[in-house]
Amino acid sequence: MSKKILVLAGDGIGPEIVAEAIKVLDALQAEGAIDVTMEEALVGGAAYDDCGDPLPAATLEAAKASDAVLLGAVGGPKWEPLHFSKRPERGLLGLRAGLGLFANLRPAFLYPQLADASTLKPEIVSGLDVMIVRELTGGIYFGEPRGVETLESGERYGYNTLCYKESEVKRICRVAYDIAMKRGKRVCSVDKANVLEVTEMWREVAIETAADYPEIELSHMYVDNASMQLVRAPKQFDVMVTTNMFGDILSDCAAMLTGSIGMLPSASLNAEGQGMYEPIHGSAPDIAGRGIANPLATILSVAMMLRYSLDAGEAADRIEAAVSKVLDQGLRTGDIMSEGMRQVGTAEMGDAVVAALRA
Ligand code: NAD
Ligand code: IPM
Ligand code: MN
Repeated sequence: MSKKILVLAGDGIGPEIVAEAIKVLDALQAEGAIDVTMEEALVGGAAYDDCGDPLPAATLEAAKASDAVLLGAVGGPKWEPLHFSKRPERGLLGLRAGLGLFANLRPAFLYPQLADASTLKPEIVSGLDVMIVRELTGGIYFGEPRGVETLESGERYGYNTLCYKESEVKRICRVAYDIAMKRGKRVCSVDKANVLEVTEMWREVAIETAADYPEIELSHMYVDNASMQLVRAPKQFDVMVTTNMFGDILSDCAAMLTGSIGMLPSASLNAEGQGMYEPIHGSAPDIAGRGIANPLATILSVAMMLRYSLDAGEAADRIEAAVSKVLDQGLRTGDIMSEGMRQVGTAEMGDAVVAALRA
């Protein structure tokens, strides 16, 4: 039966990179490798401009009714002056919460062809393959109370709350352990247990949950050290599991190990296996509209979608192989450009992936 994909291009470079991902889906569809129907809807700044709401009810309903969501990126300077509740980012967070997408998988994998593109020495990053499992619907992003108030003294007081229920920690640890069982069986739980009670509990629950996984080698690291270790010796990690905000920050850092933030895909999954797929980068306002953004993170997010939500693992493998082939051919967008390679734009990169897929 045909699977339903909701496409949310969003803002900035969102529509440019999503167009290339759709080319890949269309190519697979044309040859009968997948059976999907695609529908488009608005989210983020584009939705605000259309109807004054970054997450229109119709978009959330369409997302709930689909097997998978493909998202580009949201946000940009145009919408920064808006009230907090109307900002594009609220649209994205509303989708994550509304669909219950608690498990965010962010694989930092270095294509060997890009060892020179990283700002780190090739010997530090070559062979890198780390899976960051980020909790996505809890923690300080969603904790209450939150807000900004004016105190009696007249000064402003802003606050957010970092809080987790034991059950939230347990389920994200289980996701990390299940993934690790299919990989190197090593999980590093990243916390700030030396300072924050909630992450001291996180550490305890991580240990208790691991009792069901005797083969998993569980370690713990404070987030400040983890960020240092990620650039010092990233290959020590197999799977990392962490809170919403720590995972946000560590995954941008890990992205750079793979050559560029334009290379890192992600999957956000709920308990039913429904998922939203997006590059980890943002709307890149500084390069939007110029046709130079790297579409590979979005194309690789499509591969994750086929694997995790659409039961089309073989097609997913083919997309990843096609990306590798294009890199073998020496094609590079500006962000991963290095000496002797051929610089191409967004569309040319997408076309090359499609051609490699067909070859
Ligand atoms: P960003 O990720 O958009 O950009 C950071 C830097 O990386 C920029 O120099 C950009 O040009 C570059 N970059 C990002 N993606 C690239 C790609 N595919 N190819 C080449 N270069 C790329 O982060 P930012 O500048 O901090 O945020 C810009 C806007 O995006 C903000 O409004 C922010 O809230 C939003 N944002 C959205 C998401 C999302 O939709 N998931 C994620 C992060 C940031
Ligand atoms: C990401 C982004 C989002 C986050 C923002 C835009 C809400 O940075 O997907 O990494 O912080 O989760
Ligand atoms: Mn981020």
